[in-house]
Amino acid sequence: MYASPVRLCLTAILFSAAFAVLPPYIKPCKKSNPDINKCIVRSIEQLRDKLSVGIPELGAPPIEPLNLKQIRLSRGPAGAKLDVNLTDIRVSGPSTFKIRDLKADVENVVFTFKVNFEKLTFQGKYQINATILLLKVTGQGDITGTFTDYESDVVLRARKLHRDNDVYLNFEKMKLKIKINKTQLHFNNLFGGDNALAAATHELINNNNDLILNEITPELETSLAELFTSVANKVTKSFTYKELFPDD
Ligand SMILES: *[C@@H]1O[C@H](CO)[C@@H](O)[C@H](O)[C@H]1NC(C)=O
Ligand SMILES: *[C@@H]1O[C@H](CO)[C@@H](O)[C@H](O)[C@H]1NC(C)=O
Ligand SMILES: *[C@@H]1O[C@H](CO)[C@@H](O)[C@H](O)[C@H]1NC(C)=O
Repeated sequence: MYASPVRLCLTAILFSAAFAVLPPYIKPCKKSNPDINKCIVRSIEQLRDKLSVGIPELGAPPIEPLNLKQIRLSRGPAGAKLDVNLTDIRVSGPSTFKIRDLKADVENVVFTFKVNFEKLTFQGKYQINATILLLKVTGQGDITGTFTDYESDVVLRARKLHRDNDVYLNFEKMKLKIKINKTQLHFNNLFGGDNALAAATHELINNNNDLILNEITPELETSLAELFTSVANKVTKSFTYKELFPDD
């Protein structure tokens, strides 16, 4: 069975009708462009403001703020126990991403690059049970913090999907490793203002910053990777491979 040329043509018109012209915020990069790496970085950077608030017509969610799942930490010897429960964590700053050293293999659709964030801050709720000098102390309230990160290496791979006589890209979940070397945490209202205990606990926490960081970092990496992959896929679902990377 062969479709008649007329039918094929009609089908093509119908399927391309959704976005007959690329919207102005999608900047294609020609495959033949000798500076295609720069072109891609520029295309992504100029999308920053839209990504920040989301692109409803593509179904892309806002990348600000990023919500994290509950984080539990339970560590330390009996005499210096530290149990922390962090909930409602919202991270601000994913839209401050900076992409560097991008290398695009457009034919095989593999992108490697480095990304870092100018500023990642978070806020949420904490609950703490700690044992300090055999004294049990508990507290709950708001927590805020800042991550100081340096570069992350990212690999982003896509598969080519054939749909409606066209080729579309679908990204596999991004691999993203963040190296955070510092975090500052602030717990407000520790022990309802009992300053001696609050100071002792803050010291305990600050001496164990690594512990808390080790719990938060994987959660942050997973959530950022899922978010960015999902956004990338919303874009590549709406436009064909050829529209995004024209031959000439
Ligand atoms: C942590 O907080 C969540 C949400 O408030 C709660 O459901 C959970 O039971 C808490 N876990 C602990 C160990 O306190
Ligand atoms: C703190 O202790 C209380 C009372 O024992 C318990 O309900 C709560 O789940 C504990 N929270 C954490 C974070 O360990
Ligand atoms: C983080 O670590 C890197 C490498 O060790 C260092 O160059 C940088 O200054 C550190 N940044 C902070 C804020 O500590």
